[in-house]
Amino acid sequence: MPIWRPSTSHHDKTPLPIRVTRAQGSYLYTADGRAIWDGTCAWWVTVHGHCHPHIAAAIAHQAHTLDQVLFADFTHPLAEHLIQRLSTLTGLPWGFFSDDGSTAVEVALKIAIQYFRNRGERRTRLLALEGAYHGDTFGAMSVSARGLFTLPFEDWLFEVEWLPFPSPENEAALRQSLEKLQERRDIIAFIGEPLLQGTAGMRTYAPSYWDLIATTVRQTGGLVIADEVFTGFGRTGTLFATQQCQQKPDILCLSKGITGGFMPLGVTLVSEQVFHGFYTSDPLKAFYHGHSYTGNPLACAAAIANLELWEESHTWTQLQTLCDTQKQLAEKWREMFPDLPVRTLGLVLAVELPGAERGYLAPHRHTFKAYALERNIFLRPLGAVVYILPALSSQPHELERAFYLIQDYLETVGVSSA
Ligand SMILES: Cc1ncc(COP(=O)(O)O)c(C=O)c1O
Repeated sequence: MPIWRPSTSHHDKTPLPIRVTRAQGSYLYTADGRAIWDGTCAWWVTVHGHCHPHIAAAIAHQAHTLDQVLFADFTHPLAEHLIQRLSTLTGLPWGFFSDDGSTAVEVALKIAIQYFRNRGERRTRLLALEGAYHGDTFGAMSVSARGLFTLPFEDWLFEVEWLPFPSPENEAALRQSLEKLQERRDIIAFIGEPLLQGTAGMRTYAPSYWDLIATTVRQTGGLVIADEVFTGFGRTGTLFATQQCQQKPDILCLSKGITGGFMPLGVTLVSEQVFHGFYTSDPLKAFYHGHSYTGNPLACAAAIANLELWEESHTWTQLQTLCDTQKQLAEKWREMFPDLPVRTLGLVLAVELPGAERGYLAPHRHTFKAYALERNIFLRPLGAVVYILPALSSQPHELERAFYLIQDYLETVGVSSA
């Protein structure tokens, strides 16, 4: 089939894509009659389960009511309602629509850069965390760690200053870097994935580090951008990861789980202060950025239905149950494989498989995925890091099954538990 698939080497024939004809809850149903448990939430987008009836009904209703408007000249109740709700939840009153995580980040970066230009302040530097991943468009790539994904474009990316990943081992280096920032007045913004770097291998860090970085950046007059494209909508155990931090962002990027995994949608929320920087009679100071599908009513309907599900107590009970299960499994892993790192935060459980080859292309990514798929479990390792990210439709026994499958796999490659 002449379809160029994402992040795929087509020369590499294994594994071929699997044809899925239907999905429900945590399961994908294939054309050849298999039911595969999805432990990735379909690239981190599904929240309450595939085809959740509440969200499906909201989209169906909307499709018969209002499909699209040109958002520069028109508005509609669902877009207004959605931004109002997100504002109440985040404390950021203005929302800008885009299409996905990368464009939500592009918008955030462009707003931050233009904000200072509009004020007549010459600021030129952006800060990001080592290991960051913010998307595949050029701005998002520029503030992402240099590596496999960015290699062919290296000469085309803008320069960014990197802060050490905030871990206890790196704390001295981080503090040193932050110390050096204090007198600077050229920082536009810091962008980071709060508490959890997903693509880097599910690397977690404490809220106090986020606060430390954000406080220092604020002292320089710079803005704080939280990229919650992955961490939003329950992944870290709270609706947003920044709810666990003292320092709230000036700009917040949302996508992936925002529609419960049904529709592509990006939202960049900003503070009153940031919006005010664009509120002038000078037409050169407006934000000239817009996507065709801005504020798409079907996507807004899905996002509102998703937020409605988050207002139900059983959603939170289920989130807690699954987070507790992940914690227990992490403890078990520490006993079973004391030498193999394990990390957990909220719904995410990640373990590192052994082997000399690390990084995204580590061979486990193919061999483990194939092993799991043969057993009707879909897990997609980030190199040697295998993670389990369940949708809220999953049950603890399904998480346990995926967990013990990792142990079985390790035995096949000659690693036994303690
Ligand atoms: C933290 C973060 N930001 C941005 C993106 C890009 O999102 P999208 O793939 O929807 O463009 C991702 C995707 O994985 C992400 O994890």
